Amino acid sequence: MTLKAFQLSEKVYWVGAIDWGMRDFHGYRTGSGTTYNAYLIVGDKVTLIDTVKRPFLDEMMARISSVMDPARIDYVVSGHSEPDHAGAIPEVAKIVAPERIFASVQGKKALDEHFHEKHLPIQAVSDGETLSLGNMSVTFIETRMVHWPDSMFTYLKEGEILFSQDAFGMHLASGLRYADEISHHLVLHEASRYFANILLPLSSVIAKLLEKVAKLGLPVKTVAPAHGPIWRDGGKEIMGLYAKWCKQEPTSKAVVVYDTMWGSTELMARAIGDGLLEGGATPVLMPLHSSHRSDVAAEILECGAILVGSPTINNSIFPSVADVLTYLVGLKPKNLIGAAFGSYGWSGEGVAQVEEYLRRMGVEIVGESVKAIYVPDSDTLERCRTLGRVVGEKVSQRASIGKCEKSEILSS
Ligand code: FEO
Repeated sequence: MTLKAFQLSEKVYWVGAIDWGMRDFHGYRTGSGTTYNAYLIVGDKVTLIDTVKRPFLDEMMARISSVMDPARIDYVVSGHSEPDHAGAIPEVAKIVAPERIFASVQGKKALDEHFHEKHLPIQAVSDGETLSLGNMSVTFIETRMVHWPDSMFTYLKEGEILFSQDAFGMHLASGLRYADEISHHLVLHEASRYFANILLPLSSVIAKLLEKVAKLGLPVKTVAPAHGPIWRDGGKEIMGLYAKWCKQEPTSKAVVVYDTMWGSTELMARAIGDGLLEGGATPVLMPLHSSHRSDVAAEILECGAILVGSPTINNSIFPSVADVLTYLVGLKPKNLIGAAFGSYGWSGEGVAQVEEYLRRMGVEIVGESVKAIYVPDSDTLERCRTLGRVVGEKVSQRASIGKCEKSEILSS
């Protein structure tokens, strides 16, 4: 391979891999591929920050070879043990024979549990520990649960680069390395999808992490994540977005998620959508025959309500609806109100089961859920419209309270 490294600064290179074809990341649909970012610090002690997913080992080695003989690598740092970054460590260790592989305390344990190779020279480092690379130094910052228990950032003082592993990343394959070189709309779209699908359940941990990083007062020129483009604004924009997303403040958007067997639940969804609009909300209808679970997750990131419709099939919720609700329960969204609806033929348990999922998600149920036998008549559709209006009014009221509180803070 003749692939080249990308030089970030005098002594630092991007030597990762571009996965143009990746479309599924453990259940999250990634329409734009991804990158696995590895970085080479050419200090007196040559240091590789992270590796790549195992099938991309050759690509990374080719990029390293464009800078120097890989055998000159002294240290490898593992930001966390998930296989998309640490998967190639055993092969890298065979090729390079590094003096040390550094990981957090939890990371050493996790790498051992992944590879079961006792001979690997893995050494645990603690939060705040500084490692000399001779003419340079790196400091490790523990970032537990962002997004694995063993996660840590690595900060390079000379050059002021924060290697932030999964945080501030996105699944976006590109030949361009800097976020400001790529369409801003695309960058924000993929960054928010990534946050919603990967980091949303960790919002409170991330909010604390942002405080911790701010308190450290480290000058940061560049934020170099483990996926997607690199931020050379010091991470200002993406950290601001993370602070906002962590709060999950309710907006006037109301997402209507549903599937339908013979069109009845869809008729109900449309009537609810009209009611939401009348109540002052901005409805987004997401039929599950054309919306993936990760599209729904992305929509509820900046949202105020979720209304879920399911037909009853074999005394149960519809499978596609169960799929999305199971996924959303795990993502632990906050500050949502919602309601359930759906059609049925014989027994009609689906709507109650949807309500149960919504309660498990912490959604405040508003209004009266609507069930329709076979095909909704005009009265039933009017009840759907009323449900939409009630939720819509509440959603727009909550969104304007949030806006007023913000403007009061700004004017005080
Ligand atoms: Fe990109 Fe947590 O792996």
